[in-house]
Amino acid sequence: MMELLEVNHLRVAFSEGNKDYCAVNDISFTLGEKEVLGIVGESGCGKSITAQTLVGIQHPKAKILSGSVKLRGKELLHQTEDEWSKIRGKEISMIFQEPMTALNPLMSVGRQIQEVLWVHGLAKEKNQKEITLKMMEDVGLRDVEELYNSYPHELSGGMRQRIMIAMALIANPKMLIADEPTTALDATIQAQILRLFNRMKEAYEGSVIFISHDLEVVASICHRVIVMYAGRIVEIGSADELLSHPCHPYTFGLLRAIPSYKMRGKRLYNIPGTLPPLAERNFTGCPFCDRCEKKMKICFEVFPKPFERGNRTVYCHLFGEENHG
Ligand SMILES: Nc1ncnc2c1ncn2[C@@H]1O[C@H](COP(=O)(O)OP(=O)(O)OP(=O)(O)O)[C@@H](O)[C@H]1O
Ligand SMILES: [Mg+2]
Repeated sequence: MMELLEVNHLRVAFSEGNKDYCAVNDISFTLGEKEVLGIVGESGCGKSITAQTLVGIQHPKAKILSGSVKLRGKELLHQTEDEWSKIRGKEISMIFQEPMTALNPLMSVGRQIQEVLWVHGLAKEKNQKEITLKMMEDVGLRDVEELYNSYPHELSGGMRQRIMIAMALIANPKMLIADEPTTALDATIQAQILRLFNRMKEAYEGSVIFISHDLEVVASICHRVIVMYAGRIVEIGSADELLSHPCHPYTFGLLRAIPSYKMRGKRLYNIPGTLPPLAERNFTGCPFCDRCEKKMKICFEVFPKPFERGNRTVYCHLFGEENHG
C-alpha cells in the first residue's frame, strides 16, 4: 500500500558566510493513512523547519538542499506559490503554537473558517455558513452563532486554538500538521485541547503529524513517534514501545527527564550539556555524541546507518551491524 506521505533524504539548510548548515539533515520517514505521527526533540532540533518544509512555508533564508516529499506519490518540493495555495488548507493544513499570529485580527473568526471553503470552492455558497457553524461545534465551541461574529482578540487562547483547528480541518485535508499546538496554553486548557485531538482523530479521515518537545504529550496521542536531535532523526518507533524500551541514548534521556516516568521521587534527570547552535554541530558523525553517555570513537566520525527491527528504526552505533553482526 502506498503511504500517504513519503519523505526521503530531506536536507534543509541556512547559510552563514558562504557555508550551508543543515537544520534538517537527511531525514526520511513515512506517514500512513489515518496515522497520527509525533515528532519530538529539544528546542532547535529542526521540528518546525521540517513542518514548514512539508507545507511549503519556507523561511526566505532556508534552502532545500536535497530530498523529496511526496504526498500520495506527488512531489511537493519546489512547487510554485500558486500551486501551494491550492494544496494548503485543502490537502495539507497546519496549526501553529500561537494562533494569534496565524489568525487575521481584522476578520471575524467565523468568516476566517468559512473562507477556507470559499477559497477552495468546497461547498455551495448558501451552505457554507451552516457547515462552518457545525465545524465550530465539532471542535467544542459553544454559542457558535454569536462566536461566529467575534474577532480573535475577543477570545481566550484555548478558544483561538479551537478556531485554528476548525479552520485546519474544515476542508477535510489529507494531512494535518500541528506544531506545538498546546505549548502556549496553560495546563488545564492544554489538557482540553489534547482531549479534543484525541476525540477528533476518530472522526477525521486524514493523517496527523503532531509536534512537541514533550515526549509524554506526543506519546499520549500518537501511534508512532519520531525522535529528532540536531536536525537528524535518531529513532522512530511506536509510541508504546518507545516509552517502554527506548533504544537511542537520546530517547532514553528524554524519558528520564519526564517527572512521572518510573522514577517518581528521584531527582529529576536532565541530559547533560545543551544542543549546540547550528554552525557548531557535528554534521558527519552523530550530533548527539558530545552529550552521550555511551559514546564511542566511531560516533564522532560517521552518522550510523538505520538499524531496523519490527517497526523500530534506530540510528545509533550501539545497534549497528558492526557491533552486533
Ligand atoms: N531563520 C533562521 N536563520 C538561521 N537559522 C535558523 C532560522 N530558523 C531556524 N534556524 C535554525 O534551525 C534549527 C532548527 O530550528 P527549528 O525552529 O526547526 O527548531 P524546533 O525543533 O522547532 O525548536 P522549538 O522546539 O524551539 O520550536 C535551529 O537550531 C536554528 O538554529
Ligand atoms: Mg518549533
